[in-house]
Amino acid sequence: MVRLTDSEKAMLDGAEGAAKQKAMALLVRYANALGAERFVDTNNIAGVPGSSSLFLKNYYKDHNGGDYNAIFSLYDLDSDEIVEVPKVSAYSCHLQGGMDPDNWMKMGQTQAAFDHFREDEAAVADHGVQILKTCTPYLAGNVPVKGEHCAWMESSAVVFCNSVIGGRTNTEGRESTSSAMLTGKIPDWGFHRDEFRYGTHLVEVEVPIETVQDWGMLGYFVGDVVQENIPVITGVTGQPNLVRHKHFGAAAASSGGVELYHVVGITPEAATREIAFGPRRPVATIKYGLAERRKTYESLNAIGSNESVDFVMLGCPHYSIEQLWEVSRLLDGKKLNSGVQLWIFTSRSVKSVADTNGYTKIITDAGGLLLTDTCSAISQAVPKGTKVVALDSAKQTHYLPAFMGIEAWFGTTKDCVDAALTGRWRGALA
Ligand code: F3S
Repeated sequence: MVRLTDSEKAMLDGAEGAAKQKAMALLVRYANALGAERFVDTNNIAGVPGSSSLFLKNYYKDHNGGDYNAIFSLYDLDSDEIVEVPKVSAYSCHLQGGMDPDNWMKMGQTQAAFDHFREDEAAVADHGVQILKTCTPYLAGNVPVKGEHCAWMESSAVVFCNSVIGGRTNTEGRESTSSAMLTGKIPDWGFHRDEFRYGTHLVEVEVPIETVQDWGMLGYFVGDVVQENIPVITGVTGQPNLVRHKHFGAAAASSGGVELYHVVGITPEAATREIAFGPRRPVATIKYGLAERRKTYESLNAIGSNESVDFVMLGCPHYSIEQLWEVSRLLDGKKLNSGVQLWIFTSRSVKSVADTNGYTKIITDAGGLLLTDTCSAISQAVPKGTKVVALDSAKQTHYLPAFMGIEAWFGTTKDCVDAALTGRWRGALA
């Protein structure tokens, strides 16, 4: 049973109001299910508090018309009683949402869905939650520090927080993050504790891992092999930058359930192999050589057969400004093939830099769209009639064709831009 401090007990007894009482009750149930003995304080939470689609609002319309309090009480707090939701107590941000705020029509959304989106967002902001609307909060102003206890949803953000930053979070859900926003508490379990953070599997890399595509493929391979365990990668030469980590982690969290990885000599809890494994011994040693690399590339391209591409989607996880700069250089002064649509996804804050730097104009002048808040997989939106998509993200390649019943090619950003300009897939493994 979880042990509560006096202030936690008081919250559970309703001293701070009904909503916090419900939130604390939910967290106590959660902690007991996990076997946690106590809570940790958290002041960094990323979730989707009280947020809803039009479908969800209509589903709850018999309860206060499905207003913010109703959705939050019934859905986030798992409470049959509808309570007044106060402003959040802990620093909180909203992750990705369901549509672009300006180009929602092009994404196939209705006026009613957009009106609800706006209303919903205003209610979330009103409760003190930062509207970052991205799967990359660490690129949009929410950067934890090493050792900081966080409560984040979104698998690609969780793995980045744990592995690259050394922050501490489990892959939380809507209910636990919304409850943590009200209470500032999360169970002291899993990745919050040192003993859960040591490596389990050794991955020996035998080929050069340099490009973003290399890192995406390695992540996809590693996730598939280790599933939800903790890989320790050795043999990497050079210094992967933020974008490479972003693509590696997102891929590993998609083909498997990796929430934390270590790269020896690079990530913050892996100065040496011994430190990365701590008291554990690797349960398995896995090699990643030329054959594994080729097989991974082929498996990511297994659902591509038609070389005629009609859609290119970039920005999974949401593109950084560096990636937008790269794409704008590839597109500068050019026009997309008339049969192809290009959608690039990023966060609102990164887009504002792209606007200032002229990258948005270059992309739109070429015939593409720079969108925010969401992505094709999350919103299940592709241009009408799409048959074949080109992607530079292993994560998006894992999900989008399955969700939308379309073919997909996976390659480098350059391969994808080339497909957008020519309408042909000409990517090949370098
Ligand atoms: Fe983000 Fe969508 Fe990929 S919300 S991580 S871009 S699946």
